Amino acid sequence: MSYEAIIVEDHGPVRRITINRPEKLNALNRQVLLELRRAFEEADAEAAVRAVILTGAGERAFVAGADIAELARLGPEGAKEQTLLGQRILRQIEMMNKPVIAAINGYALGGGCELALACHLRVAAATAKIGLPEVKLGLIPGYGGTQRLPRLIGGARALELILQGEPIGADKALQWGLVNRVAPSAAETVRVAEELLRPILARAPLAVGAAIEAHRRGREVQQTEAMRIEADLFALLYTTEDTREGLTAFLDKREPKWRGR
Ligand code: COA
Repeated sequence: MSYEAIIVEDHGPVRRITINRPEKLNALNRQVLLELRRAFEEADAEAAVRAVILTGAGERAFVAGADIAELARLGPEGAKEQTLLGQRILRQIEMMNKPVIAAINGYALGGGCELALACHLRVAAATAKIGLPEVKLGLIPGYGGTQRLPRLIGGARALELILQGEPIGADKALQWGLVNRVAPSAAETVRVAEELLRPILARAPLAVGAAIEAHRRGREVQQTEAMRIEADLFALLYTTEDTREGLTAFLDKREPKWRGR
């Protein structure tokens, strides 16, 4: 399928999706959001795609936020429709059972920070600035930021970022657990994301998917129910060839061969 505002390309089993509006610091307008929806639907549906790296074009920005020119044209009804659309598309990314890594190659502000939060793992360039500056515009985060950020880094730190609206650098983001790795430069962010992915791609694909699902669904319910979800997925893996293969290969002292079934 063809895209205008994003670039979609495959590097082996890893699909790379690049938001491509560098002249506007990759701000998320409606077109970018709708193309992301389509690109993630395709990545989910295609068996050959094992993981996704999401990044921004150029060396300045991952995504500098929702498109403020579009936001300025909205009234209360349009704003509601916009926030629900953004929330749905970011939820779709979070719901992927294939690992999705944000390669944050520069500014990740507002909707850009929220987009990175919807990914499963995050790598930031040493030059990146990450934050939720919506209060500076008289707004609050509207694509899940008030909910996902505290679940990831704790309420106190999240509220500090949301209430002050000041971005933090990559080192602090690492220290706070907002990102998993720091890349030395913007240009190397995708490479570091690929390194983070490499061992994951060597694991049983269905087990990786089940782990992502257990983590995601478990976070949203009480612990007793979360434990049941884990047990169900654990047992479900016993219906797959790969689980049998993994256990047998260990006992046979050989490397497992995954088939993804
Ligand atoms: N929406 C729409 N356009 C944006 C944008 C956004 N979120 N962020 C940047 N742009 C545009 C700028 O308007 C400018 O366009 P122009 O050249 O047509 O005037 C272009 O991208 C470059 O940005 P500029 O502000 O000139 O770069 P800078 O280096 O001076 O500043 C930032 C970089 C990121 C600090 C600044 O662009 C900024 O504060 N952006 C908004 C961040 C924000 O509040 N995001 C949350 C939105 S909910």
